[in-house]
Amino acid sequence: MARKNLTIGLFGFGCVGFGLYEVLHKTPGLKTTIKNICVKHPEKARPIAAANFTFDKNTILSDPEINVVVELIDDSEVAFEIVSEALKNGKAVVSANKKMIAEHFQELLDLQREYQVPLLYEAACCASIPIIRNLEEYYDTDLLQSIEGIVNGSTNYILTKTFAENLSYETALREAQENGYAESDPSLDTQGIDAKYKLLLLLAHAFGQIVKPQDIFNFGINKLRDLDLQFAKEKGLKIKLVAQAFKNENQSISCFVLPKFVKPGDKLFDIDDVFNGIITQNNFSDTQFFVGKGAGAFPTASAVLSDLSALTYDYRYEYKKLNQAEILTINNELVLKVFLSSRETKTQVLFTYFHKVEESYRSQETGYLVGYISLKKLQQLIQLVPDASVILIEAKPGLKDQNLVTKVELEPVYVSDSLIV
Ligand SMILES: NC(=O)c1ccc[n+]([C@@H]2O[C@H](COP(=O)([O-])OP(=O)(O)OC[C@H]3O[C@@H](n4cnc5c(N)ncnc54)[C@H](OP(=O)(O)O)[C@@H]3O)[C@@H](O)[C@H]2O)c1
Repeated sequence: MARKNLTIGLFGFGCVGFGLYEVLHKTPGLKTTIKNICVKHPEKARPIAAANFTFDKNTILSDPEINVVVELIDDSEVAFEIVSEALKNGKAVVSANKKMIAEHFQELLDLQREYQVPLLYEAACCASIPIIRNLEEYYDTDLLQSIEGIVNGSTNYILTKTFAENLSYETALREAQENGYAESDPSLDTQGIDAKYKLLLLLAHAFGQIVKPQDIFNFGINKLRDLDLQFAKEKGLKIKLVAQAFKNENQSISCFVLPKFVKPGDKLFDIDDVFNGIITQNNFSDTQFFVGKGAGAFPTASAVLSDLSALTYDYRYEYKKLNQAEILTINNELVLKVFLSSRETKTQVLFTYFHKVEESYRSQETGYLVGYISLKKLQQLIQLVPDASVILIEAKPGLKDQNLVTKVELEPVYVSDSLIV
C-alpha cells in the first residue's frame, strides 16, 4: 500500500508543537510538510522564521491543500472549534488535547462518523506509551478485566521529588512546569482532573464505555500533607496518583482516580519522575505492563508522529467495542480501604462515615484514620472536611458493603504526640 503524503496545518507551537516540528525534521522517511502554523500571540519571539506562522485559524482550515490538522494548543474550547471545523472540512485530525476530547467525546465520535474522517489522539493519553492503539486493536472487551496506572507525568514527577529529594511541593511543581510537563493550568494535574480525562479515553478504548467527566470520581495530590509522606516513608511505601477501572462480577465497571500507597514489588513502585505506567489485567495472559515517558516535548511529539505515520496508511479508530453487544454499566457502589488525614479535631464525625476503622492517630495539630468507606460516603466527607487528604490502600471488585463488618468505633485510639505506625 502506497503511503499518503501529508500536508499539515499545525495549531500551537509551544512545548509539544515545537517538539513535533523538531521530530518531523529528524524523520525524513515520513512524507510530511508543515504548510502553516497557527499560534495566538503575534508579539512572541519564535525559534523559526515569522513567515511560517499565521494568527488566523481559517488560513489553515480553509486551505484545500492541507489534508491533516495537528491540534496542539492549550485552550480546550478553541481546540474543539478548530477540530470540529477541520473534520467537517474533511481533514484528518491529530490532537493531544485530552481535556477537549474527554469533554466532547460523543460529539467528536459523531463528527468522525458523519464526515468519514479520522481523529487520532495517542498523545493525549500517557504521551509516549502507545496504549490507545493497543487497547483498540489488541484486546477484546471479554479478555480485559482491569486497567490501572500512573497516567499523569507531572504529578508523578512532583511526588518523586517530594519523596526522594525532600523538595517542597511548590518547588517540585515549579520544576515540573519548567520542564514542560505540567498543563498550562497545573490544577488540572494536581487535582487529578487530567488523569480523569485520560481514564475516560481509556474506558472508551478498553471497555467501549463513553462516560462523562463528571461521572468519574477524581481526587488529586494537592491536599497531601507532611503527615501522609511520613506515614508512607515509615511503612516503606510510596504515594502515586493512580487511575483505575475494573470489571465487577455483574459486568459493571468501577472507575476513579485517587492517590494510592504502593509497596516495593508493586509494578508502579519504581515508576518515578515523568514516567507513566499502565497495568492491564487479562483473563488468560494475566498481567501486562506498559511503561514510558508521560509528558514532555519529545515523548509527546513521538506519539503525534506515530499518529501521523498511521494516517499515511489511512488508519482510523473503529471503536469496535462501542458497538459490541455486551452492555457494561458504570457502577461506583463500592467500598474502598483508605488512609484519610485531616486537621479536623472532631474525629468522631469522621468515624461515622466509615464502615470500619482499623487504625487512628490524633495529635494537637492533625490526625488520620485508616478504614473502609464507601465511595459515596467518601465524596460526602471530602465536602464536609475540605482539608482532608485521601490515599487509597485497596479497592477490589467484590469489596462491597455486605462483606464488611459494620462497626463504628466511637473512641479513636489516641497517640499523644509521636507518630506510631
Ligand atoms: N506538555 C506536555 O507534556 C503534554 C503532554 C501530553 C499532552 N499535552 C497536550 O498538548 C497540548 C499543548 O500543550 P503544550 O504543553 O505544548 O502547551 P504550551 O506549551 O502552553 O503551548 C500552547 C500553544 O498553543 C497556542 N495557542 C493557545 N491558544 C491558541 C489559539 N486560540 N489559537 C492558536 N494557538 C493557540 C499558543 O500560542 P502562542 O505560542 O502564541 O502563545 C502556544 O503555541 C495541550 O492540549 C496539552 O494538554 C501536553
